[in-house]
Amino acid sequence: MNLHGDIERILFDETEIRDTIDRLAESITAMYGGIDFTVVSVLKGSCVFASDLIRRIPVPLELAFLGVSSYGQGTESGPLEITFLPGGNEIEGRNLLLVDDILDTGRTLQRVRTELERRGARDVKTCVFLDKPSRRVVPITPDARGFEVEDTFVVGYGLDFRGRYRNLPYVGALRAEVLARQP
Ligand code: XMP
Repeated sequence: MNLHGDIERILFDETEIRDTIDRLAESITAMYGGIDFTVVSVLKGSCVFASDLIRRIPVPLELAFLGVSSYGQGTESGPLEITFLPGGNEIEGRNLLLVDDILDTGRTLQRVRTELERRGARDVKTCVFLDKPSRRVVPITPDARGFEVEDTFVVGYGLDFRGRYRNLPYVGALRAEVLARQP
């Protein structure tokens, strides 16, 4: 089975993604202006994005991970649970850059940001690879974002459908029959 055959169209190809990450890395470097910060990657979706992004930022930073699960089926997300957080010394008094794959309703980022602030972070900024503003429920605007996307379910470059397609090197929309397939 070849994953590429399940993709109806490519929204952002490898070249566009590389250029966008260069732009984001430059703006994040300027945003911190030499101040120490920690990139907190929200797993699993942002692992591909975060690992490409940090390698384009030429100033010292630390890296931490945070786990979030939403028990939804297919393209709908269910109740949110933070499954693990960085250690207390990685949060308290630190400047954190929360990195996620996609900002959709905004519930995930809002929930995670509140939790990090509650645990004593000095400052929490946000950077998302994709932004779907048309779906926003919680009023949250990212400090940095890669691409704006229409209201379509997308996969690839870390984003999954039922756990698959994260390893595609581009962002694409799935064929309708793939989305409709029984799990
Ligand atoms: P919220 O609604 O909390 O959503 O901002 C963020 C999380 O929802 C998932 N999500 C998607 N995953 N393709 C995906 O693979 C999509 O188009 C999509 N839209 C939302 C994702 O896990 C994200 O972290």
